[in-house]
Amino acid sequence: MFEFIEKVLNDKNQYDCYHPIESIRKKLLQNNNSIEVEDFGAGSSVIKTNQRKISAIAASSLKPKKYAQLLYRIVKYYQPKHIIELGTSLGITASYLSSACPNGKLSSFEGSKAIAEIAKMNLENTGSKNSEVYTGEFNQTLPDYLNHNSPVDFAFIDGNHRKEPTLTYFKWLLEHSNDYTIMVFDDIHWSKEMEEAWEAVKQNAIVTLTIDLFFIGIVFFRKEFKVKQHFSIRY
Ligand SMILES: C[S@@+](CC[C@H](N)C(=O)[O-])C[C@H]1O[C@@H](n2cnc3c(N)ncnc32)[C@H](O)[C@@H]1O
Repeated sequence: MFEFIEKVLNDKNQYDCYHPIESIRKKLLQNNNSIEVEDFGAGSSVIKTNQRKISAIAASSLKPKKYAQLLYRIVKYYQPKHIIELGTSLGITASYLSSACPNGKLSSFEGSKAIAEIAKMNLENTGSKNSEVYTGEFNQTLPDYLNHNSPVDFAFIDGNHRKEPTLTYFKWLLEHSNDYTIMVFDDIHWSKEMEEAWEAVKQNAIVTLTIDLFFIGIVFFRKEFKVKQHFSIRY
């Protein structure tokens, strides 16, 4: 925990990739073009129509800079070789994850085709050479992908914020994880269902350490943590 707080949480360096990725976010926030999107998951309850402004998607769906950059630092520090992101959206967090591990690969999953196309363009514009966006409903894309790409070293679960789907993704990912896998769950306190999902993840027998940063929850499985511990940190 000391190491994590010192080296990751409190790392105030302005890394080179921060500015270009945040410039892309800024452009997305100013982009008033509309695209046709399929609605997936509980997080989409804010906007019901299928025509959405890119600016509105950027404002409501993307991880804010503070957390996207924290995810960058987690990946930069632990250097996982195989990263999965469930919920690419416009590719902002994906760009951070990809930049953090040039020697690893990022596979990011997105249901909406039009959104995924923009994400691919954004990843290309950040010079990403190690990322791929898989388009389709997670249930259709993830199991087959995992059967051919194992183990997973790092997973960011940021789509379909409901209890059962979240726990299903957790189960699938667990089947392809090892002691050194790190999982990050988004919006763990967003709803009663997400509270329950987070509680179930914490209680899982092979989880050894969790860190609750309120907007995200981080899960470790390392056996060297002899006693299971849960930390909540104000971040
Ligand atoms: C919160 S956004 C992801 C934001 C992104 N991780 C970031 O911080 O830049 C969630 C995305 O997951 C996608 N999504 C939600 N449920 C899904 C499902 N069941 N299958 C495929 N995609 C899904 C939505 O279309 C949406 O674009």
